[in-house]
Amino acid sequence: MRVGVLTGGGDCPGLNAVMRAVVRKGVQRYGCEFVGFRDGWHGLLEGDTVRLDIPAVRGTLPRGGTILGSSRTNPFKEADGVRRINATLAKEEVDALIAIGGEDTLGVAARLVQEHGVHCVGVPKTIDNDLSATDYTFGFDTAVGVATEAIDRLHTTAESHMRVLVVEVMGRHAGWIALHSGLAGGANCVLIPEQPFDVDEVCGWVTSRFRASYAPIVVVAEGAVPKGGGMVLKDGSQDSFGHVRLSGVGEWLAKQIESRTGKEARTTVLGHIQRGGTPSAFDRWLATRFGLHAIDAVHEQDWGTMVALRGTDIVRVPLSEATARLKTVDPALYEEAGVFFG
Ligand code: F6P
Repeated sequence: MRVGVLTGGGDCPGLNAVMRAVVRKGVQRYGCEFVGFRDGWHGLLEGDTVRLDIPAVRGTLPRGGTILGSSRTNPFKEADGVRRINATLAKEEVDALIAIGGEDTLGVAARLVQEHGVHCVGVPKTIDNDLSATDYTFGFDTAVGVATEAIDRLHTTAESHMRVLVVEVMGRHAGWIALHSGLAGGANCVLIPEQPFDVDEVCGWVTSRFRASYAPIVVVAEGAVPKGGGMVLKDGSQDSFGHVRLSGVGEWLAKQIESRTGKEARTTVLGHIQRGGTPSAFDRWLATRFGLHAIDAVHEQDWGTMVALRGTDIVRVPLSEATARLKTVDPALYEEAGVFFG
């Protein structure tokens, strides 16, 4: 069998580990051949391929990013998109496709299977951990580790100057990175997209931390919104899936805190540092297992499925189910963390 592989959406530590496992097991156990498509769906639209065999994936387990490149290209927004994809699949004699991506990439894969009969299997990826069908996605643990280390470091400098440090982390629709790193790093409070925050309440927490002679660290997810206000945006630009570019809430909040409490406040935006670099041991483990099970699904011609983590098992779920609903932070879980706020 000849199998095409693509990585779409924002890059994520562990993508290469998935491909290494897919290729190793595919070649060694099932006698498959592989072709990589460059830059997500863009590679399929343009017929832009990358060699993908065992030598190509050697040494890539600890490497961040993706050796195939990635993009947020949406083929359903491109003229003649589906016909061009089918033409590339035919030209490259590809029998099956493994799409590694988040809700957008897998949403395209689900439509290609359902509406156009493309033989496709999905592998979930996102540092935001917001896909409902899987307990965890790889990349998340690495991002939480980076954010926690940053918070640890910010504590000592905040205390030396007795100022507020606001840390803005990624998390467009879901506050998983903020919640996990904020709890692990002993933040003064954690603000997530699921729960609009009250600026006066945040200022109250900050003031009470100063009273205890500690300098507060405020962790805010990029998608968090103040009560009664809209999302704070850097600019209005959108990608081809209609997502606006986030970041800016941290800076905005620091100004609010400074003017309302009279305490100096500064912002650190962690941004793409959370996505770059080597995957954690957990993410390498999860990505590798996803890859091993994805090539099994291809071998068994189980089209339209996605591999997922349930407890310690890797299972298969319908792609349509995987992309139907976002996994957001449960209010009870957020409430649990609230005991440390202030
Ligand atoms: O993959 C999701 C994400 O990490 C979001 O949290 C963030 O808004 C987005 O990626 C930013 O990605 P990019 O800068 O590549 O558009």
